[in-house]
Parts: sequence; structure tokens; C-alpha cells
Amino acid sequence: MAGRKVYIETYGCQMNEYDTELVYGILKEHGISKADRLEEADIILVNSCSVREGADNRAISRASQLTHLKRKRSGLVIGIIGCVAQRDKGKLLEKYRGIDLVLGPDSYRKLPEILKNMNGSPVVKTEAKRSELYDDITPFRQTSVSAYVSIMRGCDKFCSFCIVPYVRGRERSRSPQSVIEEVRKAVDSGYREIVLLGQNVNSYRYERVDFPQLLLMVSDIEGVERIRFTSPHPQDVDERLLEVMKERDNVCKHIHLPLQSGSTRILKLMNRNYTREEYLELVEKIKEYMPEGAITTDIIVGFPSEREEDFLDTVDVMDRVRFDSAFMFKYSPRPGTKAAKMEDDVPETEKDRRLRVVIEKQKEHTLYRNKQLVGKIEKILIESKGKKEEHEVRGRTDTNKLVVVKGIDCKVGEFVQVKIVDAAGVTLFGELIETS
Ligand code: 5AD
Ligand code: SF4
Repeated sequence: MAGRKVYIETYGCQMNEYDTELVYGILKEHGISKADRLEEADIILVNSCSVREGADNRAISRASQLTHLKRKRSGLVIGIIGCVAQRDKGKLLEKYRGIDLVLGPDSYRKLPEILKNMNGSPVVKTEAKRSELYDDITPFRQTSVSAYVSIMRGCDKFCSFCIVPYVRGRERSRSPQSVIEEVRKAVDSGYREIVLLGQNVNSYRYERVDFPQLLLMVSDIEGVERIRFTSPHPQDVDERLLEVMKERDNVCKHIHLPLQSGSTRILKLMNRNYTREEYLELVEKIKEYMPEGAITTDIIVGFPSEREEDFLDTVDVMDRVRFDSAFMFKYSPRPGTKAAKMEDDVPETEKDRRLRVVIEKQKEHTLYRNKQLVGKIEKILIESKGKKEEHEVRGRTDTNKLVVVKGIDCKVGEFVQVKIVDAAGVTLFGELIETS
């Protein structure tokens, strides 16, 4: 098997990106290295996402398109892994000819053995394995300045619109020791920013250690200059978490707090376990603890039975909070979820209109929040160099905002102090003050 090369295309969330790193890590241990380009690969895997219809379709049509390459390259293996694989299992093979492999998120460990024994007939492995945490696997990192570290897998919340609990299984947390060990390794190999990942990070619990305690432990590790985490559920944010975020310099003052809807009636149908008032109270608390912090969110428009008044409640929450940024989606029914049994009664054109309204609203708020930073000094972590201009760099503030700095020459991965001089849309512009 040694000498073969694998190429993975990833769709969806950061957890999927992390899983791709795990799969590269698992295969590397068995002598299968990463192909830099698709053309060099003997094995091509599509790591699919099923959270919304768009990503779902994109991943699968890409995989079926790739099967055409088999005509020119004999022995080429094409596989679908990740959430769509888990959901659709063997059906994918019936629908799309030429797929050799369907592998769910709990089965990646089996991949080397499966590849070794492939005999021309397709393989499907999608058993849910409650205990699988991959905590002994060293991910082969694909990011440059910030390292993803998963702290828990799965989700027990069962929001009615969401497929995640069905494809990623029950919640289980990694031991603090194994998280810390992985963070240490990432720091040793040069990463200064750590992103703790979980479908529901603040449901983390391992014996007596909960999420605020784990955050403290990671924050104590020498060399960790920034810690981010995504995503928490509003229901599980308590003051101890806010306390840790406030007190620790290396914990970023940014919280991604999915709202989904601003209507209590819709939130109930979504099984979100909070009301609009509770969400707004929580935002006030966060602002008390971190007045300069950033709050970002996810919003769904057009959930079954969402009336104009419910939609206006969402817009109203946006106006009250003024989020720094938001991911906004049209509701799409996910087969197998509770909401999929409700009538998808908001017409597509109306969903489109509502989406346009929230996007416009968010643009105003992002600009408003960004303009508040003009004149301020910010420490940014450089993450890329300008594509067109040689002396242009891009970096992120503690609050995860992108800053473009012109006329400086510094390395990716470096921290620099800049003064924010302008804000245009989602982008801030800065001038160098000093290099730390
Ligand atoms: N339709 C639209 N958006 C969805 N999301 C999850 N499921 C759906 C769905 N069925 C959104 C939620 C979630 C984000 C990751 O994707 O806003 O927070
Ligand atoms: Fe899906 Fe809700 Fe779990 Fe998030 S908390 S992964 S939206 S079920």
C-alpha cells in the first residue's frame, strides 16, 4: 500500500476540516501520503456535509463527477466519507455508479484496512460507534496559523431542523489529558492559535471537568497565545464561562452564539430550549463581561409556519444585539429530522425575500460594529499575504475580524500591533505600529 497518495476534498464545517486532518493522519501512519494535487492521487475522498441541502448536493455531485476520472486512471479509488455517507449509506452506491467507498465519521480508523483489501467491490462502513473519539490519532494539519483541536464529538440537543445528531451520533467528550497533549503538540510544531471544536463545545464534560475548566487548562499551556472555540449553545453558557473568557488574556473575546430565530414560538418548534428574552438577557451578560467583545450568530429564515411577525421578531433581535457578523440560511428540510415532518409552508420566494432582508440588515450592523474599532489599537495574527500586492498582509483581531495592512513585510504566523484606520464592509484596514 505504501507509496499511494490520497487527496481529500472537504465540505462543511470546521469539524469536517478537522476530520480530514484525522484521515490524512491515519493514512500517513500506513504509508499513504497526501497528494498535493488531485491529479496525483490514487485515492480521492470527498468529505461530505449534510447540514443543509446546498452543501449536501455539492459534495455528492462532485464525487459523482470525479468518478469520470476512473476511465483514464485505472485503480483510482473514489470514496464518499462524512455526514452524507453516514446518512445515505449503501443508497449512494445504487444512485452513483463508480463510487468505491462509503465511510461514516465513526469508521475512519478502518480505512487503511479497507483500502488494503479492496477487490473491486464497493465497501460501505457506517456503524455508529459511541466511543470513537480518535484521541490517539495525530491529525495531519492543513491549516497554517491556527490549529483545530476537537474536544467532543456528536450532539444530544436534537434541534428539530438539524441532521447532526443523526449523522454524528451521541455526545462524547475527550479526556482533558488527551486534549492538552494535542494542544502541546500543536504548539510545539509552531501553532500559536488553538481552535477548540465540538458540535456543542459547552456541553463538554469528562468526569468532573466541564468546559470552563477545560478552557482554563488549555489557557495555562505555555505558548498558547490565542484560544477560540466553536460553537457553544446559548442554553449551556453560564457565567463561569464568561468569567474565564474575561479573565484570561489568551482566550479570545469572541463568542459565536447561534440565535436561529428571534421568535419564542419558532424557537420552541425548533427545540432550542430558550426564549427570545433569555437569549437577549444572555447577550446583555456577555456585553457586561466583555464590553469590547464580539458576538456572532447563525440565523435561519423560513422555518415551517414562520409568519411575518415571527420573522420581524428575528429582525428585532438583530437590531437589539447588533451582531458583529452572522451566517444566514434559508430553512431546508433535512429528511429524518422532526422539522421535516412539519409542512415546509413558507414559499421559496418569501424565504428568498426574508434572507435578503437579514443579509442587508447584517451588513449595516457589521459596518456599524467595525466602525467602532476605527482609531483603536489591535493585535492581529497574520494569516496570509496579499495576493496582488507584495507588501500587503491579512490578519485577525482577537475578536476574529479581518484586517488588511498595507506596506508591511511580515511573516504569516506573526503577531503585530496595528492601528485601525478604516472600515469597509466586513474588512478593516490597519497601519502597523510595532512588531511584537
Ligand atoms: N436548514 C437551514 N439551516 C440549517 N442549519 C442547520 N440545519 C439547517 C436546516 N435544516 C444551520 C443552523 C446551524 C448552522 C450550522 O446551519 O443555523 O447553526
Ligand atoms: Fe444541530 Fe442543534 Fe446540535 Fe447545533 S445544537 S449540532 S444545531 S442539533
